[in-house]
Amino acid sequence: MRRKLAAGNWKMNGTAADLAEIAALIAANPAPTIDLLICPPATLIAQMVWSKKNHPLAVGGQDCHAKAAGAHTGDISAPMLAAAGASHVILGHSERRTDHGETDAQVRAKAQAALAAGLPGVICMGETRAARAAGTTLDVVGRQLAGSTPDTATGATAVIAYEPVWAIGTGLVPTLEQIAEVHGFIRAELARRFGADAQAFRILYGGSVKPGNAAEIFAVADVDGALVGGASLKSADFSPIIAALSAS
Ligand code: PGA
Repeated sequence: MRRKLAAGNWKMNGTAADLAEIAALIAANPAPTIDLLICPPATLIAQMVWSKKNHPLAVGGQDCHAKAAGAHTGDISAPMLAAAGASHVILGHSERRTDHGETDAQVRAKAQAALAAGLPGVICMGETRAARAAGTTLDVVGRQLAGSTPDTATGATAVIAYEPVWAIGTGLVPTLEQIAEVHGFIRAELARRFGADAQAFRILYGGSVKPGNAAEIFAVADVDGALVGGASLKSADFSPIIAALSAS
């Protein structure tokens, strides 16, 4: 059985003062029965790891460089994230693909670097509003999945996140049928490529997951959790999502 995963992506939000939200999250979820992950800005990783003490909450990065070290001003490598206490890293988020022009090949190289550093990558993909309207969603997701996921990925070392670009931060959510179609497609593509191990990959849905819509999304087949942006910033929002996933 795949363990459910509730992952929070703080994006470019948060300073030390916001660690109070982690204390609140831990107080609200003292003994989680699912996997919890928060990916804060890199500046907060070490402090968050320290402040959570022995709680099983995992802390992750939001990106890494494909190389382990070198002359790359402003970048952070996967071994550096691991040394700071991170245990996962988000890769190929649509905001990185847009803001930094990241290609599938670059995301795959980063995912390989993460694997080498022992960090499971949360590899993100999803169609634009235009692709959805044009009926090319599965083409886009299939291309991103094939291009961004390393051949050496396994269910233990990679997580797939389906995040329609038009649903991120907009309050818009695909229909449950649309989510089911894409998650089923991703599972089938993983099976074509990785065989029986495809069943071990967790496939997260992301894009405007909120306390009010979490339960119905988590009831969809092949939804193994969520990658949550805005609603992961406050324990009061994230904890009901965790509760809905725990109950699913
Ligand atoms: P959102 O972001 O939950 O704020 O829509 C999701 C994401 O970008 O991971």
